[in-house]
Amino acid sequence: MESNPPKRRDSKKSLRVKVISLGDAEVGKSCIIKRYCEKRFVPKYLATIGIDYGVTKVQVRDREIKVNIFDMAGHPFFYEVRNEFYKDSQGVLLVYDVGLRESFDALDSWLGEMKQEMGSQANMDSIVFIVCANKVDLTKRRVVDEGEGRLWAESRGFHYFETSAQSGEGINEMFQAFFSSITDMCENGGKRPVAEVSVGFTKEQADTIRRIRSSKDSWDMLGVKPGATREEVNKAYRKLAVLLHPDKCVAPGSEDAFKAVVNARTSLLKNIK
Ligand code: GTP
Ligand code: MG
Repeated sequence: MESNPPKRRDSKKSLRVKVISLGDAEVGKSCIIKRYCEKRFVPKYLATIGIDYGVTKVQVRDREIKVNIFDMAGHPFFYEVRNEFYKDSQGVLLVYDVGLRESFDALDSWLGEMKQEMGSQANMDSIVFIVCANKVDLTKRRVVDEGEGRLWAESRGFHYFETSAQSGEGINEMFQAFFSSITDMCENGGKRPVAEVSVGFTKEQADTIRRIRSSKDSWDMLGVKPGATREEVNKAYRKLAVLLHPDKCVAPGSEDAFKAVVNARTSLLKNIK
């Protein structure tokens, strides 16, 4: 990583922040940082060994921000090296590869590792999280769509960006939003501003959409036991319809989830005497 030259000195207004990158090996964490700091892309995979450290200076409004970037290795082998670097972070880049579902599913365990290592310091409200759905240039191998990624991120109060370290898509916008949110948080006494986490839908709605997407059959989708009565199916349907109706629910994926629930109910009622 190379550092940018300082733009100006103003000790009163300058801020020092620490950010880390997290996510499975090979999802593109180092390339995203390299694309931003050095404006280039390296197609060859050079695994990060433990931690890579760099500093960059950015300007957010009237403040100069000195950003210390700790780029973590995603490979489980380096757990012992990276675990001590979680503490005192103001920002986290959570990266997955849109062509690898396991790397998306792993985001929860990355958050889990972070919470565990931070121990009593684990105040997630004082950290800005950005989720990068990376490698969007590889459209043919994409398996995790935007709605799914956005839902996971926004239901937790995290930002969501689609990025490609290869083409540069989304990279500058993502870092600008990242640094500007960290600055807002620091100016707000170290708490993530409330407006930012208010996304217009509830965690119950987000969790229900996620459950519907991964349900194995129509019974499972409606949350009733196989062989349930018409009344039970209708009752479960009404509850979900109220929760997910597109007029009332703005969560990403709510429209598809609502349609799936309508179809599940129709197909079940056809077969129940
Ligand atoms: P670890 O350091 O092992 O945790 O991996 P990492 O997440 O830092 O991955 P890295 O940035 O080294 O990239 C892994 C591979 O993916 C490299 O071969 C990159 O060239 C490639 N890669 C990274 N980002 C992109 C992208 O946006 N598009 C494409 N097509 N390839 C990418
Ligand atoms: Mg790396």
